[in-house]
Amino acid sequence: MRSTASAAAHPNIAFIKYWGNKDHELRLPANSSLSMNLAELETLTRVSFDPSFTSDQLILNGKEMSGLALTRVSVLLDKIRDLGKVKEYALVNSKNNFPAGAGIASSASAFAALACAASSAAGLKLSEKQLSQLARTGSGSASRSIPGGFVEWQAGTDHETSYAFSVASPDHWDLVDLIVLISSDQKEVGSTQGHHLAETSPLQLTRVGDADRRLNICRAALLDRDFPLFANIVEQDSSLMHAVMMTSDPPLYYWEPGTLEVMQAVEEWRKDGLDACFTIDAGPNVHVLCPASESRAVKRKLGSLAGVKSILECTPGGPARLLEPDFTGV
Ligand code: DP6
Repeated sequence: MRSTASAAAHPNIAFIKYWGNKDHELRLPANSSLSMNLAELETLTRVSFDPSFTSDQLILNGKEMSGLALTRVSVLLDKIRDLGKVKEYALVNSKNNFPAGAGIASSASAFAALACAASSAAGLKLSEKQLSQLARTGSGSASRSIPGGFVEWQAGTDHETSYAFSVASPDHWDLVDLIVLISSDQKEVGSTQGHHLAETSPLQLTRVGDADRRLNICRAALLDRDFPLFANIVEQDSSLMHAVMMTSDPPLYYWEPGTLEVMQAVEEWRKDGLDACFTIDAGPNVHVLCPASESRAVKRKLGSLAGVKSILECTPGGPARLLEPDFTGV
């Protein structure tokens, strides 16, 4: 008999970054991290296990996928089949409401939605912690897209102790993430490869050794809604990660001239009293964070910079969730 379930999950933006693993296969991160889910962006995924299927199949945004993308999905499905004592192959149909070139990594929302939908279709009733552990093995940052709002992923020392939890609900702080598109080119070196390169940088040990200090400051700033403290630590954490990237062997240079233009402008505006700061993931696009009260002014200023192609506005989002059994929107 066919068994189907659907789920939705948001991507997230990290304030304290995950870069490098203690265990690549289990995706046990080198350091703990902290992020915010992005409410306006979403992945919807439907999973069906069916005895008539002869292999797993992945349809992403209407296109049948093969190779690495399908293998990564099958590896997570195997874990779920083991847990749920399911033998059938699955059809995974997944859709993002944000385009591939929009500067947002989709692996976090993709593997969070997949873990929810597939475990439910396999008849499992997993806790938030178990779902976060499972999603983590598909994509590290996906562990943080399972709980809602502002989320901490504790690095842990093994599969059991490495998972994410909410530190504050979405309505705790009306922060806005203005995602500034500098380039929509596909990046040459993705995060998974980057995590392997991290340990080749002589700066990585220092970055990791100092990570709990940064996380503690960032968590406290977030809980106190202390923007100046938050801004300094978020920018320092982002730049430490990029320092590691640039000093890896081979080096990873994700910034483009437009990236630096936004970084420097944001610094100037903050000196002039505007609450805004930047953080950058494994790509050239810049996430400019500010309180909702400042977002109009920040957006207007960003719009006047030459390298800025477009701006996407996101607010704090909720947890990954199961959709109605008869949901057909994918
Ligand atoms: C720079 O979670 O995308 O966005 O586990 O290989 O899928 P995989 O990596 P991924 O790495 C995210 C890296 C980052 C920082 C962050 O989100 O913490």
